[in-house]
Amino acid sequence: MHEQERSLSGPQNRESVREGRPSDPSSSGAAGLETQSEHVSVATIEKPKRVLVTGGHGMLGSDLVIELQGRGWTVTAPTIKELDLRQKGHLESLRKRDFGNLDWVVNCAAYTDVDKAEAEFFDAHQVNGVAPGALAFICEKNEWRFLHVSTDFVFDGRSTEPYTEKHLTVPEGKYGVTKLMGEKNAIENHARTVIARTAWLFGPHGRSFPRTIIKAWLEGKDLKVVNDQTGSPTYTADLARVLADLVLHDVEGGVYHTAGPDAMTWHDLASIAIETYRDAVLGQPREVRIEPVPSSAWPTPAKRPAYSVLSFEKTAALGIQPMRSTPAAMLDFCMRLPKAL
Ligand SMILES: NC(=O)c1ccc[n+]([C@@H]2O[C@H](COP(=O)([O-])OP(=O)(O)OC[C@H]3O[C@@H](n4cnc5c(N)ncnc54)[C@H](OP(=O)(O)O)[C@@H]3O)[C@@H](O)[C@H]2O)c1
Repeated sequence: MHEQERSLSGPQNRESVREGRPSDPSSSGAAGLETQSEHVSVATIEKPKRVLVTGGHGMLGSDLVIELQGRGWTVTAPTIKELDLRQKGHLESLRKRDFGNLDWVVNCAAYTDVDKAEAEFFDAHQVNGVAPGALAFICEKNEWRFLHVSTDFVFDGRSTEPYTEKHLTVPEGKYGVTKLMGEKNAIENHARTVIARTAWLFGPHGRSFPRTIIKAWLEGKDLKVVNDQTGSPTYTADLARVLADLVLHDVEGGVYHTAGPDAMTWHDLASIAIETYRDAVLGQPREVRIEPVPSSAWPTPAKRPAYSVLSFEKTAALGIQPMRSTPAAMLDFCMRLPKAL
């Protein structure tokens, strides 16, 4: 299961290593493309980059590949078969520049099943804890920059104000522990590593909470959603733009929080997702009833932070635009969802 999502499973598209990979035709929602095209001219004129994206076929990675290609950059997105971060031989071929000469490696690959990580700590740690260190090492040796994607789950959720990059990291669950180890290993091996922490992802290229809840509503299921966990929903297309901006600006190494602008509960997010889908896609009045429940009514193997809102202030101070509001992003998301959920 995905980092936040609890009940949907199914394979995602797999494609070979490709450069200049075209956009997924199912993802050509108008609002998203308009947003991306604003950046094409700026970036293309400024400095085309050569970027390798690991996990480039996952939910975030797919949108990142689209965003970077839209800017006219050269993008390589190996599949897990071609670049498995647990395999020394694969890492060695990256080091030997078999995937080409690069400016940046962006690591979107991760073991993202938060609950399973409780029982499969070793596997999760290999991908989330060890591999970022190895990637950073290779990047440092090749004089490439390294951007590593991390998570709000490095925090314990006891804060009452949005978490900044200076807040103490104390993960609650094992997934968070592995991700924090990945951050530390990456920075240790390449001081100029950029860590982009994000949260509560949803996007058209994979499983996510909004997609699951819309599907459950369409199927007429009883909906109960927790209302005592608050976080920062983040739309992958918007996050892709922010990550590309971090690369474009060649930012200093360090941690940057890169999440959406709204703080809300899962219950709020469920309501926005279903109401947006109902109004924009179905266009029919239909009742939406979602029962708010406490987390204690829905026990999970991994404990999740009660509050993990991320402050965007440091990233905004670089001149990087905050992301769209959740309702605006949700509209784009709903328009890009395939008909059969
Ligand atoms: N989803 C969220 O709500 C959320 C929230 C905060 C932070 N994040 C972080 O955001 C990043 C992207 O997450 P996502 O939701 O896009 O994840 P995702 O959809 O699960 O994609 C992860 C990708 O990593 C690949 N991968 C897994 N193990 C690998 C390995 N050993 N070698 C190479 N590739 C491997 C997966 O390939 P296969 O599918 O073939 O295994 C998949 O393409 C991750 O760093 C995650 O920790 C996610």
